[in-house]
Amino acid sequence: MFEELPILPPDSILGLAAECRADPNPDKVDLTIGIYMDESGNCPVFNAVRLAQRQLIDEEQTKSYIPPQGDPHFISGLVELVVGAEALGARAGCVGAVQAPGGCGAVRLGAEVLKASGTKGKVWVSDPTWPVHVPLITSTGLELGQYRYYDPATHGVDFVAMTEDLAAAGPGDIVLLHGCCHNPSGADLTTEQWRDITAMAVSQGFTPMVDLAYQGFGEGLDADVYGLRYLIEHVPEVVIAASLSKNMGLYRERTGLAIFVGPDTRAAEATVSQAKAAARRIYSMPPAHGALLAGRVLSDPVLRADWETELTAMCARINGLRSEFQHRLEESTGRDFGFIAKENGMFSFLGLSEDQAQRVRSKHGLYMLDSSRINIASLNSENMDRVVAAVTAVL
Ligand SMILES: Cc1ncc(COP(=O)(O)O)c(C=O)c1O
Repeated sequence: MFEELPILPPDSILGLAAECRADPNPDKVDLTIGIYMDESGNCPVFNAVRLAQRQLIDEEQTKSYIPPQGDPHFISGLVELVVGAEALGARAGCVGAVQAPGGCGAVRLGAEVLKASGTKGKVWVSDPTWPVHVPLITSTGLELGQYRYYDPATHGVDFVAMTEDLAAAGPGDIVLLHGCCHNPSGADLTTEQWRDITAMAVSQGFTPMVDLAYQGFGEGLDADVYGLRYLIEHVPEVVIAASLSKNMGLYRERTGLAIFVGPDTRAAEATVSQAKAAARRIYSMPPAHGALLAGRVLSDPVLRADWETELTAMCARINGLRSEFQHRLEESTGRDFGFIAKENGMFSFLGLSEDQAQRVRSKHGLYMLDSSRINIASLNSENMDRVVAAVTAVL
């Protein structure tokens, strides 16, 4: 059976990271993968997570399955973190949630429930979007559409083009938005633009789906979900895929949540039942460890404060790196890199051509995607000079 089985090429992002690991160049720098790195190039375990893990080891009595919907502390803590007390009050009884293996699992469960609704509409994704959205959504049988989003000429959101394209989205269509820290561009909607998209969803009848993988990495835990909460307060149905991979450092623990806001309590119950059924047929039961840790961190005031302090410091470090990198590149190249400091989260397109991105890799050991997307959080005082010199050389 496997004799003729085709060998697939490596994943576009993970493949480059593997290439970098295999590169013997001692000066290589990996700016490819979307993982937060600290000043010494490590992806740290949050102190609050470490403490919660110790408690869990001492107190855990069983490795039996957790409930199919997920750990209740985790669900209530994360729903409140994302939706917020005010929007939750405004939509009391209309919010349902099912734990998922990471943000990817939550996107997939969200798409499964949308497919189960019988919609014949499309899921509109931004151009560009995180490439994994495509298989996660199309594997349910839903079709994709694309709306223009990022303009390389201005290094920002082309909101006129975005709204022109989304004018065609109507009832039954789903519009996938990045809650904050757009991946790959780092270019986010302004509060006014979120309100405009909300008005379009209300008047045209499309359903927003929000992928929230970086809450707290942009401007802060509440500021980063302003647009999402505004949508929840005004649009009858919203689907959210939340991840704690980045903002709680739980990457490998696969800790995510699919949240469904419906028009009424019956609809919320229906979405939860459908998401649980989808999970059952794909992987059966949710992973426990990350959710049990996150449930403790979110509900214990001491752990929660510790986590928020560490997250705020990470966010400040990313923003500090953005402005340092901007100034260093401007000094070195004489060009304008002001956009780097204006963007949010870990990612930025440097604006290199595909050829330049490949040359910077082969000649200088500086690994970025062909689109010139880099992870700002991989910069540090040890590699900054080399990165600036290499980018300057290819420009
Ligand atoms: C835009 C976006 N959505 C979702 C995810 C999901 O991450 P995970 O499944 O690891 O929680 C990521 C991770 O890189 C992402 O960048």
